[in-house]
Amino acid sequence: MGETRDDLKAPHTAPKTGIGLTALDDDYREDLYRVLDEMRQADPVHRDRELGRLFLTRHDDVRAVLRDKSLHVDPRGALPDSYIRLITNAPKDREDEFEPSMIFSDEPDHMRLRRLVSQAFNPRSIETTRIRIGEIADALLDEMEGKGEVDFIKAFAGPLPTIVIAEMLGVPLDRRDDFKRWSDDIVLGFDPIASPETRQRIEASSEAMRAFFTETIARRRQERSDDLISDLIRAEEEGEKLTNDEILSMCTLLLTAGNVTTTDLIGNGVHALLAHPAEFEKLKADPDLIENAVEEMLRYDSPVTDSGRFPLEPYEVGGVAVGPGRSISTSLAAANHDPSVYPEPHKFDVTREDTHNQSFGGGMRICLGAPLARLEAQIGIAKLIERFPDMKPGTSEPRRRHLPSFRGFEKMPIRLH
Ligand code: HEM
Repeated sequence: MGETRDDLKAPHTAPKTGIGLTALDDDYREDLYRVLDEMRQADPVHRDRELGRLFLTRHDDVRAVLRDKSLHVDPRGALPDSYIRLITNAPKDREDEFEPSMIFSDEPDHMRLRRLVSQAFNPRSIETTRIRIGEIADALLDEMEGKGEVDFIKAFAGPLPTIVIAEMLGVPLDRRDDFKRWSDDIVLGFDPIASPETRQRIEASSEAMRAFFTETIARRRQERSDDLISDLIRAEEEGEKLTNDEILSMCTLLLTAGNVTTTDLIGNGVHALLAHPAEFEKLKADPDLIENAVEEMLRYDSPVTDSGRFPLEPYEVGGVAVGPGRSISTSLAAANHDPSVYPEPHKFDVTREDTHNQSFGGGMRICLGAPLARLEAQIGIAKLIERFPDMKPGTSEPRRRHLPSFRGFEKMPIRLH
């Protein structure tokens, strides 16, 4: 199914920069790890003038930048032509309209917002959703039963995370399709050269989601329930500094941040398993390997390929200077395949001992949803294998999504029996 890393050895010649270092470029998207290897060897701290950023590919540089507390993410502090402004659509002349969610907030707002929801997402709280995740996975697998071939993304990897997070937020099931569509549209904002039509689509879906949450928040103010929105309202009433707009953007962030990403972890993970039958067999023979296998899936084909920060003072990475307000892109995918850290980094090995990875970012901004994403992937993939142990790649090729910073499949046919 598709190519494996080992088939893709042909060198490319033109040095990559700008859009060439995003999933909009065919070579980058279809042969990511070769492109990143070449970059790490030739120009590990690359000045990408086209998109206004440094592009880092060495594990240790990526790790250090992600953990450096002096760096920032609120695009309003960045230069007008810096990468972070392009992907947040925060033009200088409309700054007052831009209300960042936690993911693009600096201190002290960032920690204030993060603290409010961190309890709900810590590993212990998430563990309580284990049974429910299993039930949702079983129901989706029941629907797949009896079909010869399915699009795995549409049938399983897409709906599982959407239903889980929608239930945590207390969103009714009959709005599930709307939610999937809205959140798929909103992440299109990560395209630094999104067309005006795409921007309009993003705007329309953001508006629809905001309208839905505005109404839901008002309803929960009248009648509390056992969900995250009710918890946020309770926190606000208990004197936390939290505005209605902040509750709104928190709901939108949680719904979108966890959807495409977790879909891609499950999709990329199953793609890797089917492309490596010996590893698939190992996992079938020893289902207890699932936790390690999911960590290896995160490392081997990271659902988020890059994150970022920027300095407010003159800064330096590996001897390369970067001025105040200029973006630094950390390639999580490149860090995870750095041969100075991982022996045979392009080998997919479910029994690999050191599977630590940068896929959830790092430092005080490390992904809040990591325990949830891990649990969904572990349960979802384990149940899939139990139900369809003979699954194989489908008759047509899978198709990757063309969205910068994210890596996954738009479509992935698999044969179930
Ligand atoms: C496999 C799935 C996921 C991946 C690969 C992923 C990846 C990431 C990455 C790379 C960051 C940026 C971290 C940094 O720059 O240091 C991040 C932040 C974040 N993620 Fe995830 N994520 C996933 C699932 C989720 C889920 C399920 C949720 C919640 C429902 C979530 C919520 C968040 C939030 C709220 C932040 C911002 C944290 C902060 O700024 O303090 N993510 N994620």
